[in-house]
Amino acid sequence: MTIAPLDVAAIKAQFPLLRRELNGAPLVYLDSANTSQKPQSVIDAMSTFMEQSYAPINRSAYQLAAEATDAYEGARAKVQRFINARRDREVVFTKNATESLNLVAHSWGRANLREGDVVVLTQMEHHANIVPWHMLVQEKGIQLRWVPLTADGQLDLSTLPQLLDGAKAFSFTAMSNVLGTITPVQQLCAAAHDAGAIAIVDGCQYVPHNVTDVQAWGADFLAFSSHKMVGPSGVGVLWGREALLDAMPPFLGGGNMIADVRFDGFTTAELPAKFEAGTPPIIEVVGLGAAIDFLDGIGMANIRAHEADMAAYAIATLTERFGDDIQLHGSSNTEVRGATFSFAFRDIHPHDLSQVLDQRNVCVRAGHHCAKPLMRLMGVNATARASFYLYNDEHDIDVLADALDGATDIFGF
Ligand code: ALA
Repeated sequence: MTIAPLDVAAIKAQFPLLRRELNGAPLVYLDSANTSQKPQSVIDAMSTFMEQSYAPINRSAYQLAAEATDAYEGARAKVQRFINARRDREVVFTKNATESLNLVAHSWGRANLREGDVVVLTQMEHHANIVPWHMLVQEKGIQLRWVPLTADGQLDLSTLPQLLDGAKAFSFTAMSNVLGTITPVQQLCAAAHDAGAIAIVDGCQYVPHNVTDVQAWGADFLAFSSHKMVGPSGVGVLWGREALLDAMPPFLGGGNMIADVRFDGFTTAELPAKFEAGTPPIIEVVGLGAAIDFLDGIGMANIRAHEADMAAYAIATLTERFGDDIQLHGSSNTEVRGATFSFAFRDIHPHDLSQVLDQRNVCVRAGHHCAKPLMRLMGVNATARASFYLYNDEHDIDVLADALDGATDIFGF
């Protein structure tokens, strides 16, 4: 595959918010692992839809409603192609990736897991892929096992066959939101299947940044959110293998997800409506479709190559400039990491650091990143985190480094 370098200036120009200045200086947005900014095309797609085509979907026979339904279902077809799903009925729209993972745990988990059954997770999961399983520990008495990490923040797979032995499900992230580690998804799916377990992939941090192919992976479920991939908040995706979704009970009950309702019961609709109870986020789904068009126009392989280059530049710049004063968590091998960096800087508390960086208009996240078990494992309460995306370039890394220098001054080092 030929990789084309990104024209970051041209990309950045399409994001109105990134043209904004604060206190007379430009913004440097380094919090895309938290949520991404939105291009004009996504904003326009949503506004135009509201101005010209907004109506209920799947419920009314009039022309306008048919147009709105086509826009909604058209976005589903875009998601299907984007992740290379076999059929569009395997794509379920949810509120966010958290809801997608809850859907799997509560619907598939309730139907398929009994007391003592094992679900395997990794120590680098964020709360959305931990808490729903803890809820099944409390509710059904399932057991959790954890894949440990290596010193450089990769999965330690040396005991994976033992951990998976007898397991019913293996649920893991494709890329850590704290360490930036990209996991070997295809290998993990194969290992799950060899052990007779299903493979559930948390794609929150991976899908916005890499080529996704659920068929090549051999995955059973994939969860991700629109808001981290230049789309609007309020919509997420659960992709699942058709046979699994067909066999699962519904998650939420209400309109749209039923075939029939009587005083003595109900029957469910076919996929994907079975899992889309109530009025869905219609406008946001249309926005997600526009986000996919935007990302496709740039090319996911090109985005991944750009971010690998930025990761290499960040590692080189920050370590050369600050030496032992900065600790970048995770691997320094850009083959197995994305451009998301948690770091410690001297003894400055991450929250103080983020405030000081904010004074220079550099937006980073400080905290536990919704991954408290991993933070405990790392022996910290919090880290600062800079996360880069397709609209960031080397200049942003230089600005971060300059701002860190400023933080040094303020705290008197
Ligand atoms: N959105 C959370 C993050 O910032 C999980 O990584």
